[in-house]
Amino acid sequence: MSTLVCIQDYEDRAKEVLPAPVFNHYVDHADEGQTMDDCKEAFKRYRLRPRVLRDVSNRQFSTTILGHPVSFPICISPTAGQQNADIEGDKATARDNVMPKRKQGSSAKKDANKEGWSGSFSHRRLRRILSRFGHIYQTCTKSGCTPLMISGTIACAKTAKSLDTIMIVSTGAIFTCEDIALAAPNAMLWFQIHLFKDRQMTRFCVRQAERAGFTAVVVTIDTPVIGSSRSMKRRTRNAPREQYRLIMPLKHSLCASRHLIFQNGKFYDPNNPEVRSAIANGDVALSRYSIEQIVTAETWEGIKWLRGITKLPIVVKGVLTGDSSIEAVQAGVDAILVSAHGGRQLDGVPATIDALPEVVKAVKGSGVEVYMDGGVRQGTDVFKALALGARAVFLGRPVLWGLAIDGENGVKKVLELVRDEFSLTMALAGCSKLDDIKASMVVHESQYLSKL
Ligand SMILES: Cc1cc2nc3c(=O)[nH]c(=O)nc-3n(C[C@H](O)[C@H](O)[C@H](O)COP(=O)(O)O)c2cc1C
Repeated sequence: MSTLVCIQDYEDRAKEVLPAPVFNHYVDHADEGQTMDDCKEAFKRYRLRPRVLRDVSNRQFSTTILGHPVSFPICISPTAGQQNADIEGDKATARDNVMPKRKQGSSAKKDANKEGWSGSFSHRRLRRILSRFGHIYQTCTKSGCTPLMISGTIACAKTAKSLDTIMIVSTGAIFTCEDIALAAPNAMLWFQIHLFKDRQMTRFCVRQAERAGFTAVVVTIDTPVIGSSRSMKRRTRNAPREQYRLIMPLKHSLCASRHLIFQNGKFYDPNNPEVRSAIANGDVALSRYSIEQIVTAETWEGIKWLRGITKLPIVVKGVLTGDSSIEAVQAGVDAILVSAHGGRQLDGVPATIDALPEVVKAVKGSGVEVYMDGGVRQGTDVFKALALGARAVFLGRPVLWGLAIDGENGVKKVLELVRDEFSLTMALAGCSKLDDIKASMVVHESQYLSKL
């Protein structure tokens, strides 16, 4: 870990330790990946204008987000499939105290490939391979343990708690809200949902979050249909059936969701043992049903409906324009997360850092908070986003890299790395508190280039 000095190092290491199908799924993008790449590149188009000779000996970056105190404005985006980065060995292994050692480097990758990632394999084999990459948590969750205890989400939630920041739990997380809250008591958790066609299902998700003490719902609104990934299609086209089945759940991770427990079109309590065993056995109907629930006909009326059924603050995720921001305000949201879904939905939309100022301007005076995610990889990126009006930034893939390399500790290291770089940027730019970061301290490069 000591040689990992930036997020790119984490990504490179994660590529070595993760089975190729998992890593490929994480770096997947829509179409040509223009937006995914641009989200990172665009930050470089903004230049910093430091103020010198300021006392920066004490720097303070705690703030509040939707009224919750956080120790720094860097939080965790929802990513389905966290379990694939950090999978716990099964319970029996835990009982026997045989801790699978996480292998590092190319030898781990070689083993994974040798054991079938590129060929045909069974679920048992998959478990054996993946269990090498995980830690064992002795978390006792209320809904019990599936044969394969999967910890990625819980590792992130624990990190959010230990660092006093916010984590958005994906609908595709494999634990229920209640399990996560039990495993990471007092963590600041928000729950990401979709406006499902079946409103009862949506309500069910919201109630689950409320009961578990989550403090906001985040509605992803850039997904009227699931985006198309050419690289994913290429990988799965000629894959043997077994492999295809294993890769598909990685993409459509809603299938694994235990937030949405149902069978034969009915909802069941996640604590129902029959339902648990259906999920443990990988009930594929669940996948299909969840995907079908993504609504192509959804409108802002859906957000107004949601406003009517919950008192939790509502954050909409996936807004990129001023017009949509105004509609969001009118629909009664509390915050907007400017996001391009990591470049996985509509390719060709602007980089989120470029879209941010328009959104900030549109909601000015409404009291609606604005955050952003997409391509945030270093402290200067955080500084630029805050200067351009974001109250906080969220990290998607970097968290997965941390998880892959060292579970909970890896996520902590990733967040601390970006936080420390942000602190350094503040010092070098002459800021000792967040309020010192002004819009005038970040300008688009064209302002300099046009003078050449
Ligand atoms: C593997 C993966 C899974 C994701 N799953 C979800 C999800 O379940 N819900 C959601 O709203 N966004 C999801 N996203 C998008 C992220 O929340 C976030 O917007 C994006 O990753 C931010 O960009 P970054 O990865 O460059 O930090 C996912 C992204 C990735 C890479």
